[in-house]
Amino acid sequence: MTTPETETHTPTSAAAPPVYIDQLAAHVGTTVTLHGWLYNLRSSGKLLFPQLRDGTGVVQCVVFKKNVSEAVWDALKHLGQESALIVRGSVRADERAPGGFEIDVLDAEVVQAVEGYPITLKEHGTEFLMDHRHLWLRSRRQHAILKVRHTVIRAVRDFLDNDGFTLADAPILTPAACEGTTTLFEVDYFEDEKAYLTQSGQLYNEATAAAFGKVYCFGPTFRAERSKTRRHLTEFWMVEPEMAYATLDDVMNLCERFISYIAARVLDERKEELKVLERDTSKLEAIVPPFPRLHYDDAVKLLHEGHTRGELENRFEWGGDFGAPDETYISQQFDRPVMVHRYPAAVKAFYMKRDPERDELALGVDVLASEGYGEVIGGGERATSLEYLEAQIKAEELPRESFEWYLDLRRYGSVPHAGFGMGIERCTAWMCGIEHVRETIPFPRMLYRLRP
Ligand code: 4AD
Ligand code: MG
Repeated sequence: MTTPETETHTPTSAAAPPVYIDQLAAHVGTTVTLHGWLYNLRSSGKLLFPQLRDGTGVVQCVVFKKNVSEAVWDALKHLGQESALIVRGSVRADERAPGGFEIDVLDAEVVQAVEGYPITLKEHGTEFLMDHRHLWLRSRRQHAILKVRHTVIRAVRDFLDNDGFTLADAPILTPAACEGTTTLFEVDYFEDEKAYLTQSGQLYNEATAAAFGKVYCFGPTFRAERSKTRRHLTEFWMVEPEMAYATLDDVMNLCERFISYIAARVLDERKEELKVLERDTSKLEAIVPPFPRLHYDDAVKLLHEGHTRGELENRFEWGGDFGAPDETYISQQFDRPVMVHRYPAAVKAFYMKRDPERDELALGVDVLASEGYGEVIGGGERATSLEYLEAQIKAEELPRESFEWYLDLRRYGSVPHAGFGMGIERCTAWMCGIEHVRETIPFPRMLYRLRP
């Protein structure tokens, strides 16, 4: 297939301004130029129906043999999927057309003719698609998911920015663990000192919260998870708000408003994408305050009842952390996200404040998404006592030198403070109603995936 380089005219001209497919509504009845790639091609006698995608959408074009030059007809008629293509044509509103518009083609220029694009419109296996992630991103479903991700991130930032939070990002290279030493990624670079990729910006948030009051950090986070589940990535994006002079209740109030706002923005801005994903939007409409607040003890009671009724295989032992089936079961008892609070301190991180009424419990909260999506948020109130944290660091055998700066926060103006972290990919998977977090990030990193 050759490019029609002998063409003397160019399809782009003042009379046919370049437009994006998602802007076609404003150009009905006029001639425009579209720059994109061939998504699919059907033909029928003297008609060709190339579908063009340009990153903002897909539009069906109609080529009448008699309307275009012979060179253009010949260049288009066997054009392969994902050929780069510029099209000039008039915009027609058509209710039956996907997207509502069609282009009557007057001229076209093949920028690159492609043969043998590996991803066809037929079914492919997940591993094959993951290996071709750099190309898979062009397909309609992946496009829709990443558009939802984009809206989730914008909503996260807008919500926090409009609520008085200051963005104060945390470092990625850190000298110590925040969320346990078992999932640390070691970096061999600094002399005489071990470094790790961050598991959470929280400890740094606690410092910036004492400087700015309400802060958040938002960036890539790393966990050397040996688990291969639909909810785990080794590299994911986490947004973490932190507030000075705040308690566990303040955090739960914030979680509720935050998640409801994100769901409302997705519903408002991503109608087309949610349709592509065949998302049951009534599930997202149900995400409104108040979210049920469930004491850990009561969550365990629910699990025991489920076990008695034969709905859960294993009987849950009080004192443990919930596994995926437990979280799924708990969340299925409610029509909206549920906030489980006051877990046993033994299963939570070293920095959590103890419940003054029951010392064996920590003032932590996990927000379990609806529909069995599991934990999307983890957070709570932080311990304020210097002596308590010194003892915790010792008990967990954390390197004391690396935490001296953190202990300073308890020496100089220690106040109640609290915050949480939300994984962007888990939130996006839930909003999209899809099975696995791997599709919610452009290039996922998992236990067995470092490429592309
Ligand atoms: O519950 P986690 O481990 O909490 C923290 O890191 C706290 N220091 C946050 C804070 O209070 N500032 O992680 C928080 C959230 C989880 O609820 C989940 O959404 C996400 O981060 N997450 C993961 N997402 C994808 N893959 C993984 N391996 C994840 N681990 C945690
Ligand atoms: Mg957690």
